[in-house]
Amino acid sequence: MNKEWERLGVILPSLAIIGAQWGDEGKGKITDYLDEKADLIVRFQGGNNAGHTIVVGDKVFKLHGLPSGVVRPGKEAVIGNGVVLNMDELQDEIDQVVKNGGSIEGLKISDRAHLIMGYHKKLDGAEEKYRGKNIVGTTKKGIGPTYQDKIARIGFRAGDLLEDDVLKEKLKFILPYKKDTMDMMGAEKCNCTVDSLYEKMIGWRDQIGKCICDTSVLINDALDNNKNVLFEGAQGVMLDIDHGTYPYVTSSATCSGGICTGAGVAPNRLNGIVGCLKAYTTRVGEGPFVTELKGEEEAILQKKGGEFGVTTGRGRRCGWLDLVVGEHAKRMCGFTSIALTKLDVLNDYENIPVCTAYDINGKQEKHFPASIAKLGKAKPVYRIMKGWKGWNDTDAIVKEGYDALPSEMKEYIRFIEEYLNVPVDIVSIGAKRTDTIDRNMNLWN
Ligand code: GDP
Ligand code: IMO
Ligand code: MG
Repeated sequence: MNKEWERLGVILPSLAIIGAQWGDEGKGKITDYLDEKADLIVRFQGGNNAGHTIVVGDKVFKLHGLPSGVVRPGKEAVIGNGVVLNMDELQDEIDQVVKNGGSIEGLKISDRAHLIMGYHKKLDGAEEKYRGKNIVGTTKKGIGPTYQDKIARIGFRAGDLLEDDVLKEKLKFILPYKKDTMDMMGAEKCNCTVDSLYEKMIGWRDQIGKCICDTSVLINDALDNNKNVLFEGAQGVMLDIDHGTYPYVTSSATCSGGICTGAGVAPNRLNGIVGCLKAYTTRVGEGPFVTELKGEEEAILQKKGGEFGVTTGRGRRCGWLDLVVGEHAKRMCGFTSIALTKLDVLNDYENIPVCTAYDINGKQEKHFPASIAKLGKAKPVYRIMKGWKGWNDTDAIVKEGYDALPSEMKEYIRFIEEYLNVPVDIVSIGAKRTDTIDRNMNLWN
């Protein structure tokens, strides 16, 4: 076991961070906070639809496809097999990271990770257009079409870049297939040929060839050797392809179960699972949102929370905390801890409503329903919590610790813990790495 990790009282070798809502809960910040103690930081699903912000002093990292581990030099940052990788956009991100003092020296990419191709992005746009009023509101990064091809067994994997003959043969078969699909969908034309795409992909090999390996072996070896592994979720439970608000979801398995398939580790290797829960709720794109605020009320919360997308710049829809969602997320993922973020954004509200059930046709429902029609009728049943005022010096509060928080905020936290029956072990009251109160150094005990 890593000595530093041991000193901090961490005794479980693996830990996961999973978004408990519709993404943007502050997973990047919490991953960065916890990965001080990690040797490997692993992304296991999603792609550069993610936007994870990490603030270290006056530096701001905005990560999309790269694991947050690249912010701290000396860590191994792993892109697992369940991730879809955009090689065209990776370089910009790498440049930003290196400029800010991060490092990609320890970057490893699974030979089984699927590649996002130019035509996937075009198809994402065409599919959205085709859906008309049923638009999902995707990030248009080509995520859905790439996962579609993976399931249809016509995807390119990072490992293909290392095998010239395989690559050329696959291109000859797949490119015409995709061109036909694009014509059918009325997508923007793709002018590439087998030869031009081959050349481009050889360029990708030159860029990342040395990082490509069997990352499942790497991760499992690390665990066998008592190293500490942190799994970094992207998106959130409510965007999960199975357990989210289908069809208003992303195309990957965002719950903790996705770690096993997306990183190649067995379920019994997963230890602590931290649910990252924002103190209120946001979502980007279309789909049901029971506690959503409207008009001025929403605009105020959006402004206070700086709720604008890291990837698309879109304004995030905002609403109150929804514990029906929280219960769903906990049940799907088996949270052992909660990291509660952005509590500071709720400063200065007189009252703070928290949703504890849905009223659907006069019947109270405590479990999140699958039916979008039902969700459309659901009215939030609120418990009104007392707000807190007079927030002053975050640094001083962090220094003094949990007891220094306003009593109403502690009551808010206690209510969440009691409702979900999971301890809130991390309290985040600002975007910076240091704006964090750790209530339990033995988090992974
Ligand atoms: P992620 O996708 O889950 O990593 O979250 P994003 O980075 O998309 O969005 C979270 C935003 O909130 C970022 O701008 C973070 O810097 C910021 N943030 C994270 N935690 C806190 C917090 O406790 N308080 C405040 N005010 N901002 C936070
Ligand atoms: P992080 O990791 C918030 C949303 C999109 C859209 C839906 C499908 O930063 O929390 P996609 O492009 O994945 O096919 O879009 O999912 N979405 C996110 N919303 N945070 C994210 O990532 C998201 N990634 C995708 O807005 O509604
Ligand atoms: Mg985000």
